[in-house]
Amino acid sequence: MGERKQVQVPIEKIEEQNRFIEAIAEKNSRHFAINKRKPKYMVTTFGCQMNEHDSEKLSAMLDSMGYEATLMTNECDLIIYNTCAVRENAELKVYGNLGHLKLAKRKNPDLKIAVCGCMMQQPHVVKEIKSKYRHVDLVFGTHNLYKFPELLTNTMDNSKLLVDVWDVDGEVVEGLRSSRKFELKAFVNIMYGCNNFCTYCIVPYTRGRERSRTPEDIMNEIKELVANGTKEITLLGQNVDSYGKTLEEPITFAELLRMTNEIEGIERIRFMTSHPKDISDEVIYAMRDCDKVCEFLHLPIQCGSTKLLKKMNRHYSKEDYLRIIEKAKEEIPDIAFSTDLMIGFPGETEEDILDTIDVIEKVRYDNAFTFIYSKREGTPAAKMEDQIPDSIKHERFNRVLSKVNEILVDLNKSYVGKTVEVLIEGKSKNDETKLTGRTRQNKLVNFKVEDSSKNLPGKIINLKIIDANTFSLIGEEIK
Ligand code: SAH
Ligand code: SF4
Ligand code: F3S
Repeated sequence: MGERKQVQVPIEKIEEQNRFIEAIAEKNSRHFAINKRKPKYMVTTFGCQMNEHDSEKLSAMLDSMGYEATLMTNECDLIIYNTCAVRENAELKVYGNLGHLKLAKRKNPDLKIAVCGCMMQQPHVVKEIKSKYRHVDLVFGTHNLYKFPELLTNTMDNSKLLVDVWDVDGEVVEGLRSSRKFELKAFVNIMYGCNNFCTYCIVPYTRGRERSRTPEDIMNEIKELVANGTKEITLLGQNVDSYGKTLEEPITFAELLRMTNEIEGIERIRFMTSHPKDISDEVIYAMRDCDKVCEFLHLPIQCGSTKLLKKMNRHYSKEDYLRIIEKAKEEIPDIAFSTDLMIGFPGETEEDILDTIDVIEKVRYDNAFTFIYSKREGTPAAKMEDQIPDSIKHERFNRVLSKVNEILVDLNKSYVGKTVEVLIEGKSKNDETKLTGRTRQNKLVNFKVEDSSKNLPGKIINLKIIDANTFSLIGEEIK
């Protein structure tokens, strides 16, 4: 797979999309002159950061086209669902929401409904939409997101469903004109796709093969974000540790981290997701040496049983994983870890669960995303015979989750009395009198300050932690 060279979408094709953006913008400015209101859109995202960031790209394109965002379904001219296929419940949510839109469409026949993202890469989903959700106007996939301006144009004057899903791997897209809004914390794609084919996972089928952006394009995007006020960036990829392998001039993720650290004006650098089979000591050393790279590592283990990990096609053992954690703890003081855990993979035994609990106790995660295994059509695990009954999955899930939470509460308590560095994000959602921000370890901290006018979002402040809840800390100013 390594020899396959990746391609970039030719600039003429991007220019073509930019012309569609301009044409819609012109049409919308006429709309504005007549109706005194901009047409409104809503993008709803299901799934991971990759999807969230794709939605940001769609929103940026729509803003450039003269649309205005809204959260009210009843005032929308355009609704987009960016879907996720990773688990069955993510898919059911989309179908449920789409069902509700039938009424909205009946009330406002001019409303355009588009569905995109990972679910659309599966032919059986598109078939289902064609037959049962006839109020949908546009379906597109993950590989042709950049063609959205053209697809939207074609949908405008057409009452028939337009389906454009590519099953080829997406290329790398650079140069699409869109007005990215100010973001205090911004995502930056460094690579797309995944080559790992973990036996339970649909992502390699919905996102195609691995391909990396060039370091120049990544650095330029980050510099632009920083010039626009961004303080924290998260480098995104399904497996960041294998970044750069498909480039003409290969470079490692560790080197990319060091390059990013040189950019003036960034306060914090994060990245996700790392894979235990690919993370190198060099990445850990880069984390240690780079002052802006946060002391936080999201390292999905899935489960603690070497036997199951093999069946999952993960290419590491429980011991390999624990060695990486030990190394990171040794090199990086104050490092915090998070992970993904999967319960109920085919063939899972009581012993396997005990291995998982053992790892949780040894690592002591600051956060763990715990999922019940969900059968995904087309993946090897879906055909495995020893599927686990739902009742056992739930019982094991609850046990694992309570262990995760027990440690989480314990860890949070250990922060009390300590001084932490917080990047202020704004007012707290639950209590307007408080401000909120995150530590370098990504812990949420709520706190009061005497003069909030001096503590604008984006400022970094040292706080003393005075109390801890399960999912957040409470801090106070150090005087
Ligand atoms: N590339 C990342 C994230 C992939 S999806 C990684 O390798 O870790 C995020 C998480 O969803 C996975 O880590 C896994 O825990 C979970 N997941 C993937 N497929 C799943 C399935 N079929 N059922 C339940 N959880 C799943
Ligand atoms: Fe899925 Fe595995 Fe790729 Fe992660 S590494 S996206 S879990 S196939
Ligand atoms: Fe992400 Fe879900 Fe797709 S987890 S890559 S949005 S299948």
